[in-house]
Amino acid sequence: MTKSNLHQELVREQAGKICETYKISQDEVSNILVSKIEDYPKLKKLIADANNLKSVYRTREFKDFIKKIRKEIYFQLRTYKKVSDSITDSHISTRERAPYLQDFFKQIDGYLQGAETILDLGGGLFPASFPFDIYPKLKKYVWVDKNKDAYEILKKHPHNKLILHNYPLNKNNWEYYLPNGKKEFDLVFMLKLIPVLHRQERHLLEFLSTVPAKLVLITGSKEAMVKKQDIFKRENAVITKFIDNHQKEIIKKIDLPNEFGYLIE
Ligand SMILES: C[S@@+](CC[C@H](N)C(=O)[O-])C[C@H]1O[C@@H](n2cnc3c(N)ncnc32)[C@H](O)[C@@H]1O
Repeated sequence: MTKSNLHQELVREQAGKICETYKISQDEVSNILVSKIEDYPKLKKLIADANNLKSVYRTREFKDFIKKIRKEIYFQLRTYKKVSDSITDSHISTRERAPYLQDFFKQIDGYLQGAETILDLGGGLFPASFPFDIYPKLKKYVWVDKNKDAYEILKKHPHNKLILHNYPLNKNNWEYYLPNGKKEFDLVFMLKLIPVLHRQERHLLEFLSTVPAKLVLITGSKEAMVKKQDIFKRENAVITKFIDNHQKEIIKKIDLPNEFGYLIE
């Protein structure tokens, strides 16, 4: 193998390994590796001088480099960044739902048709993929999320029915978000939110159960957000416990290849 091939081989092998763990394409990882390796001149020289990759993989330089790359990819996948022209591609939750979006809306279409008010809790970038045009009855879509990046991205793509509140969920009482004259929302979205709160801010679940709503749609993921790992059982247990604890009734189940959910009242 020639010296320059060794460099390419390292990128190919490592990109393959990273893709086994993380939900990112081989091309994306290869591009990251190729550009980041430029910041590691010692490693570049080691590769240039080496006869095989095994000796490179044993070095501290390589180990530090790959550890840093894996960490960066992990954080990149978890955060909201404008990564492409499509804003729904900017976060993994919405990006993953994108291929099944039509199916998603088809499964709740009857309920959406009748809704005048929607509250989207921990909404992320979901409003960016919401088909406002096909739900003319909808008057207000209220979004609440503490994430600043998601807020900034949505602010650049306004819609006259979309109201954005960049707050933590327990910052205000529910009356604060209710449109004038309304006592409850027709539909509340808690998409991929309950398992996150269960892990990070369990005390908020009680508050969430008091949301004034005719219907609530709760979903969870079948696969972990960043890593390739089946998490259906774990997420389903958390969500069904939340529903049982608050004595809500499941009126419809939602099922997509990588997401599941319950419509409750
Ligand atoms: C897994 S993402 C789901 C995003 C979106 N609902 C979807 O399904 O595409 C969870 C979202 O909940 C938001 N979130 C988590 N804890 C929150 C809190 N305490 N207050 C407000 N937002 C929160 C995060 O910022 C993130 O945008």
